Amino acid sequence: MINIFIESDLGERQALEVPTDMGFNLMEILKAYEYDIQATCGGMALCATCHIEVLEGKENLPESNDQELDTLDALPNSDSNSRLSCQLRPSDEMDGLVIRLKALQE
Ligand code: FES
Repeated sequence: MINIFIESDLGERQALEVPTDMGFNLMEILKAYEYDIQATCGGMALCATCHIEVLEGKENLPESNDQELDTLDALPNSDSNSRLSCQLRPSDEMDGLVIRLKALQE
């Protein structure tokens, strides 16, 4: 189990306990915590409704694959800190990650 923090627009952080051994991706975990993520593509890196901004810990994440990069490139509000949470599988290296949910702001 690791901790991932969700930062609100007001700068408040909510800590989530995230399992690393159950095979869930981060989008699925955020949905389980009842964040309003549509995930219309089902985690195929196509819909971008699981778009997050990584505020701290980006260096501990695996590289994006080509599909994730293509989808992020097509978004008007993505930048170098953007990721698709469906493409991230929580691991011990991601403990302490701080993210903001971007899709909710669109
Ligand atoms: Fe569709 Fe992540 S769930 S891009």
